[in-house]
Amino acid sequence: MTQNYGEPNYWNARYLKDSDAFDWYQSFETLKSFLTTHCKKSDNILMLGCGNSLLSEEMYKYGFKTITNIDISDVVIEQCKEKYPIEEYPGLTYQVGNGLNMVDYKDETFDTVIDKGTFDTIMCGNDSGDVIKICEEVFRVLKKKGNYIVISYGKPEDREFYFEQACDWNIETKTIPKPKDYQESADKINYHYIYIMRKDQ
Ligand SMILES: C[S@@+](CC[C@H](N)C(=O)[O-])C[C@H]1O[C@@H](n2cnc3c(N)ncnc32)[C@H](O)[C@@H]1O
Repeated sequence: MTQNYGEPNYWNARYLKDSDAFDWYQSFETLKSFLTTHCKKSDNILMLGCGNSLLSEEMYKYGFKTITNIDISDVVIEQCKEKYPIEEYPGLTYQVGNGLNMVDYKDETFDTVIDKGTFDTIMCGNDSGDVIKICEEVFRVLKKKGNYIVISYGKPEDREFYFEQACDWNIETKTIPKPKDYQESADKINYHYIYIMRKDQ
């Protein structure tokens, strides 16, 4: 990843150039058994840095009825609002938002925050303190016993330090095989990681 992955301009240009849906790392199909074990259909879910991934649509169609999607790119949010009109998809909402400062959301709003590739993106930005800020913000908006689920290419030795430093939560780490397209990656690691941070207090 390059440095400007943390900048809205980078993502706006990318989504203007190509508005086709794209899922980083994993799809609903490959995550289904994990997500249906760790999330309840009645959960109030935040999809952090949704991009134009199909994950929210597919979870919604599967029965998860309250999914708030935020992204720092106003371009992708406009595209999603057009694609998922609220009359057709009540409960599936899209809003411009910055995970580092989620001013629109009160403390203890969400049961689950799902982050597929967004924490990784922020890690590649210019300010390494931002990964701490995003954890603190997620911790704030999570209800007690809520989970922050991070799907990442980053190994535990490159991620857990930040998770632990930011907040006092219980961290569980799982792996999931990489889809074929990702198997040729330079790091030769054939799986992605799923970090589950539970807010216990
Ligand atoms: C690697 S893409 C992942 C997109 C989608 N979650 C997926 O799985 O396909 C990272 C996304 O995070 C968004 N993003 C980057 N920084 C952000 C921030 N501070 N707050 C919210 N979204 C952010 C980008 O605009 C981009 O859509």
